[in-house]
Amino acid sequence: MKVFVTRRIPDVGLTKIAAAAEMDLWEDRLPPPREELLRRVVGCHGVLTLLTETVDAEFFDAAGPQLRVVSNFAVGYNNIDVAEARRRGIQVGHTPGVLTDATADMAVTLMLAAARRIVESVDDVRAGKWLTWEPLGYIGQDLVGRTLGIVGMGRIGTAVARRCRFGWNMKILYHDRHANEEAERELAAKRVSFDELLARSDFVSVHTDLNETTRGLFDADAFSKMKPTAVFVNTARGPIHREADLAEALRNGSIFAAGLDVTDPEPISPDSPLLSLPNCTICPHIASATVSSRNGMADIAADNLIAGLRGEPLRCPVP
Ligand code: GLV
Repeated sequence: MKVFVTRRIPDVGLTKIAAAAEMDLWEDRLPPPREELLRRVVGCHGVLTLLTETVDAEFFDAAGPQLRVVSNFAVGYNNIDVAEARRRGIQVGHTPGVLTDATADMAVTLMLAAARRIVESVDDVRAGKWLTWEPLGYIGQDLVGRTLGIVGMGRIGTAVARRCRFGWNMKILYHDRHANEEAERELAAKRVSFDELLARSDFVSVHTDLNETTRGLFDADAFSKMKPTAVFVNTARGPIHREADLAEALRNGSIFAAGLDVTDPEPISPDSPLLSLPNCTICPHIASATVSSRNGMADIAADNLIAGLRGEPLRCPVP
């Protein structure tokens, strides 16, 4: 069986894959260019992809009819046309669970960093602009007792809510297609409409997947309904917020600050207006970048790939 792995992942995964199949590994730090990707998948029975690879009909055509499985090294799978894969009988796997805590920690880190103006302060220290202890300098927002609005109350949203409920005694609102009874019981979380969440939350954190109903969900209209003291955090997918609208909301004070681990495009364009805003903290999509998360992702992704090659059910198929 022949497989293509589109980037070096932790050894725990590579070792398993190499023992089970003939592995072609893309060693560069950057993703394979599209042409190269389509060339390398020809004749493969399995492919391990990252969210940087678009897996669509063209990809499946290039690979050929023997392709059995695509194993995504990510919990999100918006880069994959899952319906098209299903039509062709190709299994698709992802890596849920093992990155929940790391991603929730990242969302809370961004909430704190944005609320307490950490990057702006550090930049000033580095630039020699720390003049004195200022009673009115660098004043940020408190977390204790404030209201957190979670958009997408799945595994990660619930983990963020739990941290905020038990760490800072925050009130939890959430917006989701489905009720999360466990979160309602354990965290006194209250399910509300999107507009009510925007109007009442002091912190809004996004944990939904990217799909046609969430693309552009945070636009000028949404930001205008938030509090001027609110902090917006997105650790899910960049296209869920509209960059130009977010930049305008941050510039004109319709919200206080933002913390982003995701942008659109990625990497962020060097002329993005967000880069020059002191109240916008941006990280390079690192939420799952911890030892246990990345090893766990490698282990699941390898197991998914190998099961798919064998025609067995995957350890973690996409829902
Ligand atoms: C990363 O963004 C992932 O979906 O795992």
